[in-house]
Amino acid sequence: MLLRLIKLALFLVALAPLARLAWKAFHDGLGANPIEVITHSTGDWTLIFVLTTLSITPLRRLTRQHRLIAFRRMIGLFAFFYGTLHFLTYIWLDKFFDLHEMFKDIAKRPFITVGFSAFVLMIPLALTSSAWSIRRLGGKNWQRLHRLIYLTGMLGVVHYYWLVKADHRKPIEYGIVLSALLLYRVGVWGAKKASETRAKRTIPIPARDLP
Ligand code: HEM
Repeated sequence: MLLRLIKLALFLVALAPLARLAWKAFHDGLGANPIEVITHSTGDWTLIFVLTTLSITPLRRLTRQHRLIAFRRMIGLFAFFYGTLHFLTYIWLDKFFDLHEMFKDIAKRPFITVGFSAFVLMIPLALTSSAWSIRRLGGKNWQRLHRLIYLTGMLGVVHYYWLVKADHRKPIEYGIVLSALLLYRVGVWGAKKASETRAKRTIPIPARDLP
């Protein structure tokens, strides 16, 4: 019951950035360039949700609050949701589905290609986020596939870094958070490998030699 309530609260909190944008849109609060405001807000929230999804496992281990795993799927799906809104803003509101314009833009601004790749990588993750998919793929394969989220995060940071013209502070901050999360994962993986190697090296004592 409590878990359900927390999930509902999280769901509403995750919708808040969209509600804020809608509120502003209906009250003439998006300024002189509303498309730019929507693109920037949805882009920012995509990256924030990607990084939040990635922080669940370290947070779970460090705080020993293993129930946090129950929220990871929803947060990941919100990353995809905001990514889709970001993409739709670009192809619909910005380019009016004009393919010629889009290709011209891609050729002129490579950061668009990087952003697009980050988004495409999110699609298989969203499609296989259910418990049914985990069972079908098998835990190991599912985990392997879902490591793609790190690549999405990296491409998202590069996309942001490339599109900014002068002040690179924010993309660098996102990059630092992502690097810390990656380093944590590499550290855990390294420690696991080392303990496996130690276990293999331990020579078993024959039963007759035991006291
Ligand atoms: C689907 C393909 C994507 C397209 C076409 C796209 C396009 C854009 C465009 C046109 C901008 C504004 C650029 C400017 O102001 O000059 C932008 C900003 C941004 N995008 Fe994307 N993007 C895509 C995917 C992504 C993804 C997957 C992420 C995150 C993982 C992301 C994160 C961002 C961020 C953080 C910003 C800057 C927000 C800010 O200025 O505060 N984008 N994107």
